[in-house]
Amino acid sequence: MLANKTIVLGITGSIASYKSADLASKLTQDGARVEVIMTESATRFISPITFRGVTSRPVVTSMWEMSSGFSIEHVALAEAADIIVIAPATADIIAKLANGIADDSLTCTVLATKAPVLIAPAMDTGMWRNSITQENVARLKTRDFTFIEPGYGHLASGCVGEGRLADIRIIIDTIRQILGRNGDMAGKRIVVTAGGTHEAIDPVRYIGNRSSGKMGFAVAEAARNRGAGVVLITGPTALPDPAGIEVIHIQTAIQMKKAVVKTVAKADVLIMAAAVADYMPKRQTTQKIKKTAAGRALTLDLVETPDILAEVKGGFLRVGFAAETEDIIENATRKLRNKQLDLIAANDVTASNSGFEVDTNRVTIISQDGKSEALPLMSKKEVAGRILDKVLKLLNGKPGAKGHTH
Ligand code: PMT
Repeated sequence: MLANKTIVLGITGSIASYKSADLASKLTQDGARVEVIMTESATRFISPITFRGVTSRPVVTSMWEMSSGFSIEHVALAEAADIIVIAPATADIIAKLANGIADDSLTCTVLATKAPVLIAPAMDTGMWRNSITQENVARLKTRDFTFIEPGYGHLASGCVGEGRLADIRIIIDTIRQILGRNGDMAGKRIVVTAGGTHEAIDPVRYIGNRSSGKMGFAVAEAARNRGAGVVLITGPTALPDPAGIEVIHIQTAIQMKKAVVKTVAKADVLIMAAAVADYMPKRQTTQKIKKTAAGRALTLDLVETPDILAEVKGGFLRVGFAAETEDIIENATRKLRNKQLDLIAANDVTASNSGFEVDTNRVTIISQDGKSEALPLMSKKEVAGRILDKVLKLLNGKPGAKGHTH
């Protein structure tokens, strides 16, 4: 995913610097070439050897060490960088960068680069909230600097507050988003639905299904990584909100329809990976339904939910998923025709490694002309990529596709 990307990772003197070893390791595992530059104070918290170990690259720690070769290299690193990430970033480095100070390897590299710079601050709440720090942040934001707000929680001072280094997952997501912003879907707007809906029976119980949201999230993240602006409308899920995506949480089919209608008007594509309930209780009781006499059956009256994909139409492409247990292609093709879709991805949900909950899927993509492509078992990430390839072809083939702006 990050193959052929050079990420310069700047590490400054914060106790959170130990988390950067995990960041460097994950970026390297994802294929990036990670070049670490540590400030002098960072080396007091964590050894450069750790970063050398996880990146298999030399680590720059000083401008003056002959062995590092940095005094000649720093311009080369500034030029080679696809992105510079400073995590953790102290109040000190933010102040230096805001004022153009270049007195060590990291500040020299940032000042010399044309690459985007991502800053993940970590510091005491008071230092973060200080108006001087906030003014420096605001100043940098007007240039090509992106900030990931620090999180709230336990701090090294023993206090609880704002100032924790953001989750490594969020930092990596944001790196992907920034690196992808000139991707082949740049300028496109995509609405994706994910997860199952919960149709309430009473305040305690609901009708739901096994959808975990993984397939829809994978589509949303893949579109973001290719430069698209993405809205993700999701039913209840255990997955964390991805960074760089507008996430709308809903519970029911009716709420999902409202969110789709509200967001899709400005979109180029609607991709519905959600497993929307087909039926909902006709009435929802305000009190918990009590168990009645032993042996007495309880009957629930169900009514149809709105068929979102069939009902929501406009100048955007419409892509559906079909979760099938038998006659997969026939059933999916019927749904494609009935709902007049541009594409449908049919998945066999009887196989243990495909469909609900798992990280892999086996999908056949069927297009409007009836042509189908059966994909082998692959990760949901890869399935998402293959669907987006087809979506992009359709978008580019649409009349007026060139120069399409919002
Ligand atoms: O979330 P995961 O655990 O990763 O699982 C992924 C998945 C199996 C849920 C996903 O890959 C999938 O197949 N989603 C569609 C599931 C489905 O229930 O399809 P369907 O055959 O009921 O509906 C066909 C299409 O119409 C779907 O795009 C669906 O979102 C849409 N629909 C269905 C009913 C309804 N009332 N409104 C809709 O818009």
